[in-house]
Amino acid sequence: MVNTISRSDIVSNLYAIIAEQRSSLIDLIWEQHYFHEKRRWSAVEMIGGINLENVSEFDKANLWNAGRAELTTKPGADRLARLADTECRRWQDRNPVLASVMQACSTWSRYWNEEESFHETTLNRLSTLFGLEAVNDETLIEFRKIFPDDDMLRTLVLLAISEITATVNYSWCASVAQDPGLKKLFKQIAADESQHMTYFISFAKALVDSQEYSPKGAFAVAHLFVREGGELYGSQRQHVERRDSHVNWWDSIKYEMVIPDNIERKQNLIFSALKQITGIQVNSAVEVEEKWLELVGC
Ligand SMILES: [Fe+2]
Ligand SMILES: [Fe+2]
Repeated sequence: MVNTISRSDIVSNLYAIIAEQRSSLIDLIWEQHYFHEKRRWSAVEMIGGINLENVSEFDKANLWNAGRAELTTKPGADRLARLADTECRRWQDRNPVLASVMQACSTWSRYWNEEESFHETTLNRLSTLFGLEAVNDETLIEFRKIFPDDDMLRTLVLLAISEITATVNYSWCASVAQDPGLKKLFKQIAADESQHMTYFISFAKALVDSQEYSPKGAFAVAHLFVREGGELYGSQRQHVERRDSHVNWWDSIKYEMVIPDNIERKQNLIFSALKQITGIQVNSAVEVEEKWLELVGC
């Protein structure tokens, strides 16, 4: 029988669908592939649709910063593929359903990696065409450093929040871009980032649904971002942590920081993600902290 499970059902009920044997991994992977292919676009055509004469200095600064930020997505996706596959093997005997969730996540990371490559190459190519400060090889190699490993739920929630930040930032870039071609590019990238967010929420929810992961991991990461002066405040934070292990793009924005923080919009999307992942509703940074402390038993 041909699989008839809807995409929205897969997103919100991944664990149950696998547990009830309503879909095999092969069928789930086909859905991933189908959805990836359906949303593909051409970087060459997108660049060709931009009137380069029409792009303001302001828009150029936005796309230069974004191009650099996108350099860190490849190590993120490389790491996710490896980490999720390791987790898959770790759970295979104890919880085969969770092992399948991990394998679905590891497999999806190849589509995520490819979609991010379109963002990185399109934006950096535009920076080259505009004659903006070039990314040298040393910087590129530095930005390719891989994040240290962490617990899988924490990792997925961090990635969901990273995609939330990207969605809000690109939507804002699209809203201010004057050239219709550049507006279209930013809108397309924002749509991709929003889809990535949905996938990360879906996988994170499946981990919580398995009951092998406590929602406290999700709240711990969210707290790190939404607290006063936390990671959401990006390069405007008074003190930006020095990290030797990897590059956090939100610590590395150069030139004038032209993208507004849009903290409220990002926070609301994070609260909504927490609700979808854990079923727990929170409405403020303070409530995130209270819930986190409650879950860790303080
Ligand atoms: Fe991206
Ligand atoms: Fe993304």
